[in-house]
Amino acid sequence: MTTPAPASPDQSPTRRAHPHDVSPRTLAVSAGRPAREPGGSLNPPVVLTSTFVSQGVPSAGEHLYGRIGTPAWEPFEEALAALERTDHAAAGRPADGPPATVFASGMAAIDAALALVPLGGRVVVPRHAYQVTLVLLREQAERGLLRVEAVDVADTDAVVAAVRGGGDDRPAALLWLESPTNPMLEVADVPALVAAAHEVGTLVVVDSTFATPLVQRPLALGADVVVHSVTKYLAGHSDVVLGATVADDPALHARLVAHRTTHGAIAGPFEVWLALRGLRTLALRVERAQANAGELARRLSAHPGVAQVRYPGLPGDPGHARAAAQMDGFGAIIGLRPAGGAAAADALVAAVGLWVPATSLGGVESTLERRRRFATESPTVPEDLVRLSVGIEDVEDLWRDLDAALAATADRLGG
Ligand SMILES: Cc1ncc(COP(=O)(O)O)c(C=O)c1O
Repeated sequence: MTTPAPASPDQSPTRRAHPHDVSPRTLAVSAGRPAREPGGSLNPPVVLTSTFVSQGVPSAGEHLYGRIGTPAWEPFEEALAALERTDHAAAGRPADGPPATVFASGMAAIDAALALVPLGGRVVVPRHAYQVTLVLLREQAERGLLRVEAVDVADTDAVVAAVRGGGDDRPAALLWLESPTNPMLEVADVPALVAAAHEVGTLVVVDSTFATPLVQRPLALGADVVVHSVTKYLAGHSDVVLGATVADDPALHARLVAHRTTHGAIAGPFEVWLALRGLRTLALRVERAQANAGELARRLSAHPGVAQVRYPGLPGDPGHARAAAQMDGFGAIIGLRPAGGAAAADALVAAVGLWVPATSLGGVESTLERRRRFATESPTVPEDLVRLSVGIEDVEDLWRDLDAALAATADRLGG
């Protein structure tokens, strides 16, 4: 209702100029541009208006009010939908806007996706996932809105059994996947779990924040909805908080948009503009960060000051084969357990110089934190787990800093 609707996909300049057969790396640069016109702007404008001129019964696609829909969101939504390679446009469905929906934060997007669960429905979730997602689920369970069943998402049989239910328990209403998981880097068998869930009519949502659409496209693996914290890699510069959903099915997409409209967690025009600007360099950032992460994970695995490394790109990692089969890379987050336990983890975080001790992830700068510093983090996450978000700096500088911090940690604890 709120986005300009081309009469057919062929008449949309953006879609005509960006067929879905170009590389996602190209789409990150080229999708979501204004129509080409001599003297026209290459970039979309920042649209600052809360209200639009309108009278009588609004025509299809007519903008009314900034909470309902605005051209400020559409270029980013167009680009994200193209990156997730939805078949929305290709299928020739009536175009009521791109099937991506931008929200005020990743949590707002997650809240909208959880609203797809019917009252009292059962939700199967990874026992390790972004901690605030789990907090929100617990809160909703306490209010009787839904029921939560936590599983080890890497254990496919256990997840399938939980989805199917048993005895009097009907199949789950929703399977919530996060892959790789935050902060444990577990990898779910997304295609197998989607197939099993769909067999019994269970909806599947995937939080694909760690992977980005360049590394993993859950819709192509059969999932119903993809969720992103746009705050992380998509925007990429640690300067905005935003979220998004993408859903191929027009009815699901319409419900997510309706949730945004009625609950009001809308994105600001400047933030969305910045996110689109960040998205233009997604491929370069992800490629560099992944290459850095792979190299650091390999060196850390052989370091005497390190007890354990989790990174799906390491051939010995429990998630490696699965990640190699369903992803186009391994991401740039590393789980590190230094020798010496939680005290060593705290000492390591305190000792770095170039790395930034900070929460969040997916920015150009490398950050690290001990996750159990938060009381809300899952109790089965080891106390000494340090999550590294590897950025795009020179890998040798990152290594020197980590290596020196590990040596300082060993000296401090040994002395
Ligand atoms: C995997 C994952 N999903 C969702 C979120 C929430 O996103 P936001 O902070 O943008 O609300 C985060 C934030 O850290 C995250 O790591």
